[in-house]
Amino acid sequence: MCGIVGYVGTREATPILLEGLKKLEDRGYDSAGIALINGGDAIELRKKSGRLDNLRRHLVNDPARGACGISHTRWATHGPPTDENAHPHTDQSGLLARVHNGVIENYQPLRDGMLARGHTFKSQTDTEVLAHLIGECYEAEAGAGTPETRLIAAVRKALGQITGAYGIAVMHLDAPGFLVGARLGSPLVVGLGKNENFLASDVTAIISHTSRAIYLNDHDLVYLTASDFNIENIEGGTAAYEVSQVEFTAEAAELGDYPHFMLKEIFEQPVSIENAFRGRLSDEEASAKLGGLNLSPSELRDIDRIVLCGCGTAFHAAMVGEYLIETLARIPTEVEISSEFRYRNLPLDKNTLVFTISQSGETIDTLAALREARRKGHRVLGLVNSVGSTIARESDGGVYLHAGPEIGVAATKSFTSQVTTLALLALLLGRMRHLSLAEGRTILEEIRALPDKVRQILTLSDHIKRIAECYLDCPGMLYLGRQFNYPTALEGALKMKEISYIYASGHASAELKHGIIALVSETCPSVFIAPKDTLLEKNISNIEEVKARKGPVIAITTEGCTEMERIADHVIYIPPTLECLSPLLAVIPLQLLSYHFAVAKGCDVDKPRNLAKSVTVE
Ligand code: AGP
Repeated sequence: MCGIVGYVGTREATPILLEGLKKLEDRGYDSAGIALINGGDAIELRKKSGRLDNLRRHLVNDPARGACGISHTRWATHGPPTDENAHPHTDQSGLLARVHNGVIENYQPLRDGMLARGHTFKSQTDTEVLAHLIGECYEAEAGAGTPETRLIAAVRKALGQITGAYGIAVMHLDAPGFLVGARLGSPLVVGLGKNENFLASDVTAIISHTSRAIYLNDHDLVYLTASDFNIENIEGGTAAYEVSQVEFTAEAAELGDYPHFMLKEIFEQPVSIENAFRGRLSDEEASAKLGGLNLSPSELRDIDRIVLCGCGTAFHAAMVGEYLIETLARIPTEVEISSEFRYRNLPLDKNTLVFTISQSGETIDTLAALREARRKGHRVLGLVNSVGSTIARESDGGVYLHAGPEIGVAATKSFTSQVTTLALLALLLGRMRHLSLAEGRTILEEIRALPDKVRQILTLSDHIKRIAECYLDCPGMLYLGRQFNYPTALEGALKMKEISYIYASGHASAELKHGIIALVSETCPSVFIAPKDTLLEKNISNIEEVKARKGPVIAITTEGCTEMERIADHVIYIPPTLECLSPLLAVIPLQLLSYHFAVAKGCDVDKPRNLAKSVTVE
């Protein structure tokens, strides 16, 4: 959940490192720091608590020069966000610096041992312990080779003593122009430039400098100079790797004319939804084409149970997927929160197919769920946005979302891309079983119509902004929906709570009478997702119950359903579509409602407090 950027080349490293950290601020923004080597007799170390701009301002008055450096933006795990706890951390000698993404679980006994050996620590972090351990191992290698080989050996020895997850970058004053990186459980990518090379925890940090990337695997150790690199296994020996061409441009990771990435990504959804189904629709078969599943038609027909795993928004998309697959393909499907799946011993037989759903492809609990299922011999497929991410690479196959980089911490386009992909999967499986040609064609037609229908909803942004501004003092909100839109209610509530910090909860509408209605009051608005479907009348009854208790109601409903204006305080109309695809439209007003509400409250929409874009620590 932290951001790492390393550079070794011929240019001044500081602006490159700061630009990279800026692109990774969604991964953690408690503090930031850089360390450079410039041929002097000390490491140039600058680090500040708070946002990256604090460090940037500090560097104006106290610049750091050098063409080799490492940097870090932090999401605090051990120790509060202070200058001392900010990365990079140095070893006892002050000649070695390192940055870390992950958690060292056995840092306390290691720290105690080094204290007994006379080490003194400046911070409360687990990271500093590993810096000291690597430094101690480096000193123990004295006389055994060049500084570079000693540093590689020291990193190996130190990492062999720790338990936990790490993505690290290390450098030593004795070895100017030389960086060492290693990963276990936390992402790390190498960027290959011309007379310069990069290390980063995500390719978006370096895409403006190179589109050639190597996504490291767990247990990889890499070392870089300006003109060369090598990748080995942490236990020794060579490691396989491949150089990938990054599929998106630097502009895709830029804010453009938008005030926030979240709004940009909400407005990108007509395109990102289209990207999710482009080239994957078969008119001839009235079905979908998902070659990345790596399963033959007969293998797909043998599937008699599906498990969908995810966290947060990905879990909500999985819930929609459950309704989609059971409705269109009649295959028993269940959804699991990844962190639950990995610890429960779910009985799975050989014809059960497990899907792991993740925008980042690095969520540690979803990765652990994947590994747990594979450990038991099950095929696991990934529905992932980040190409080359760990989940994508460790899956037996899968489907990329092609949504482009999602920078805003609040997931938006990744949700609609995940649901679109799950709709394609359900269509494919359904057309292999009992869905008719005509039914398949109807679904294809509606999928193709989605981008324009989303565009139409996006024109309501100002209308939704005005609605949001009516409730800025509310203590919380209730979100209610049925069937396909019960997950939509959960997703709408998550958006609201995570960026505006008010209480918001999602429920199946009929649950109102089972306790939820106790929360209804004049100050607590209820947001109903009530499209014109088979359960509209039931939702209207629920709305009446809320109104009878003076609860304000915001209703999302289908165009033409004007009776809603009789009972709801605010109505947001969405175009008609198939019931099974309605979450893709109903969620857009909820995204906009939470966005405008949070902005009006002065919240930091793209970097909400306590959160990070990719949860790579448990
Ligand atoms: C959703 O807005 C949050 N950012 C969070 O719940 C997120 O969906 C979750 O952490 C899963 O992330 P992933 O899709 O990258 O695995």
